[in-house]
Amino acid sequence: MPFPAQGHMNPLLKLAKLLHSKGFFITFIHTALYHRRLLRTSSSSSVSSSASFRFVTIDDGVSEDESTHTLHYVQDCMRRHCPASLRELLVREEDEGVVPPATCIVSDGVMSFTLGVAEELRLPQVLFWTMSACGFMGYLLFEEIIKRDMAPLKDDVTARNDARLDARIDWVPAMKNARLRDMPTFITHPSHPKHQGMLEFMIEECRNASRATAIVLNTFDALELPVLDAISASLAPPVLTVGPLMGLNNNKLIFEEPKVWQEEMGCLKWLEAQQDSSVLYINFGSIAVMTSAQLSELAFGIAGSGCRFLWVVRPDSVDGGLDGLPAGFVEETMGRGLMIMGWCPQEEVLGHRAVGGFMTHSGWNSMLESVIEGVPMACLPSVAEQPTNSRFACGEWAVGLEIGLIGDLKRERVEGVIRELMEGEKGREIRKRALEVKEEAWRAVKPGGSSYVNLDKLVYDVLKAPM
Ligand code: UDX
Repeated sequence: MPFPAQGHMNPLLKLAKLLHSKGFFITFIHTALYHRRLLRTSSSSSVSSSASFRFVTIDDGVSEDESTHTLHYVQDCMRRHCPASLRELLVREEDEGVVPPATCIVSDGVMSFTLGVAEELRLPQVLFWTMSACGFMGYLLFEEIIKRDMAPLKDDVTARNDARLDARIDWVPAMKNARLRDMPTFITHPSHPKHQGMLEFMIEECRNASRATAIVLNTFDALELPVLDAISASLAPPVLTVGPLMGLNNNKLIFEEPKVWQEEMGCLKWLEAQQDSSVLYINFGSIAVMTSAQLSELAFGIAGSGCRFLWVVRPDSVDGGLDGLPAGFVEETMGRGLMIMGWCPQEEVLGHRAVGGFMTHSGWNSMLESVIEGVPMACLPSVAEQPTNSRFACGEWAVGLEIGLIGDLKRERVEGVIRELMEGEKGREIRKRALEVKEEAWRAVKPGGSSYVNLDKLVYDVLKAPM
């Protein structure tokens, strides 16, 4: 059962497919909100179930008018309505005997209300926190950060320049290079209208994590071992790394994946005509939003860099609506870029030989997709644990260059980082390192690798599939 957003849906679906390939009957549960979003795209009509892998929608109490939704509103509705809907589904289906009785619940780490249902029905319950280990650690540290009086800071405007944001998280050795400003934005920007209630919500979800039979993370040991050790030391359940899931998921698709946006496939043809490693791919995932002024800074930064680029812009990614591109941008970049308004097949794009760099909002799926293809990144984080991912990618792992928060966008900075990434000395170093990390990622998912072994542990020791 995933949280209803693309960045959560993708990894949950990958894990579900792996469990299916190990012999489990899968019931993949959408909430009504996501189901409505799927129905809006024509590709959704192809969301089909197979005999042993089906999609079921349950009631979530979320209003149909999405203009009034905040993250916390959606979480709160689901927390109040979904447990009863889920319980009713599992009990009714067991009584009817049409499908095999449920043997375990695997749900998103931020959908921990399923724990009560699992406990009542005496089922093992795995929480899949879809983020990086460092991002998860950031959330686990919220309570301690507050106890130490480092946060929350009063308001967003002063928060950005507040020197207290540079304080280090030095009491956890694995996090010692992270500053308060690198922690998930729910604690650094608590008064942002979209963050309302999220600090308390995440603290509660982190407390609930201890009640799970096991915690699963989409990362790999070689990348995040020190942080993973710190997480294991602070949580009772075993923590199993099974990432990058896209590496383990080499079984061919059994159905078309449900997506809320149509993919524009034409960009692959355009990439075919470009030279190896010559294109900067720019995409900010499924939820990041910027103002028109920020879009303009970004556009002129890209134009000024002189690089070849593929820029994918979600139509809903600009506050107040996307009202065309800044004047002069198209003329200035004529012949060296492709812009798409919509959504692209990102995993294929990142795997294309022509892509030499990725400007990303540092969403965890995007980063892992880049890591497994060995593509170096320029990081422009927006919300949630994205600043933490960016800090680690540009520091500890040395596979990216930091631009800074989307909220602080300046064209000169964008231009400079792109040039460095695509042509500079630092760019060459992180490109080399990205290829090493790519090797480590593939080692983790090959037979005998840490994620490969952990998946077996999950299947046979935790979920207890018959051997
Ligand atoms: C992110 C974080 O991952 C999440 O943990 C956090 O709490 C909120 O922000 P999102 O913006 O969805 O979520 O980014 P990301 O995790 O990178 O996931 C986006 C997914 O959509 C990726 O799997 C990517 O391949 C896919 N995508 C994105 C496309 O397929 N096409 C696109 O054009 C853009």
